Amino acid sequence: MTETSIPVHPDVEKVLIGPEALQKRVRELGAEISRDYAGRHPTLLGILKGSVVFLGDLLRSIPLDCSVDFLSVSSYSGRQSTGEVRLLLDLRESAAGKDLLLVEDIMDSGLTLHYLLDILRNRGPRSLEVCALLDKPDCRKVAVSARYVGFRIPDEFVVGYGLDHNEKYRNLPYVGVLKSGK
Ligand code: IMP
Ligand code: MG
Repeated sequence: MTETSIPVHPDVEKVLIGPEALQKRVRELGAEISRDYAGRHPTLLGILKGSVVFLGDLLRSIPLDCSVDFLSVSSYSGRQSTGEVRLLLDLRESAAGKDLLLVEDIMDSGLTLHYLLDILRNRGPRSLEVCALLDKPDCRKVAVSARYVGFRIPDEFVVGYGLDHNEKYRNLPYVGVLKSGK
């Protein structure tokens, strides 16, 4: 699909996924989730801060009654994962008996999701699944898989549509590869 041309940030080497492709895929994911959870009341758990743009669009593609809650973890500084995941902010609501859907911007080493899935599984949810916008399967250090994945991408550092580098570029309406040295 050819995208309408958009201004590209000077720090971005190339646009990997344009706004229209993002919107189309997020709508498809929303439709799939709505079919799978029909008759239920899923709780979407946004992992701060990278998932907020994706979550905002995904929510509006799910016509079911659903709830939203947030978690925050830290493991990244710059482009490098520290490899150590810490929970910075926990859910406000109890997870017991709920249909939980973890919403993540990107799966890289898998450490973040592995850590969160472990914590949440122990709280007795009715179900627990993952929806990730992006997946870098070649970077996995621990085995985790997501039931819903937007796009599989190569091992490149990407920004935009919620994803940052040192808190910058989250507002870009596309996913782009950051120039090296930025
Ligand atoms: P993991 O724990 O290594 O799977 O990393 C997951 C988290 O790392 C994501 O939620 C992102 O916040 C961050 N991350 C991983 N790869 C990228 C990237 O290419 N750009 C921006 N953030 C990334
Ligand atoms: Mg994140």
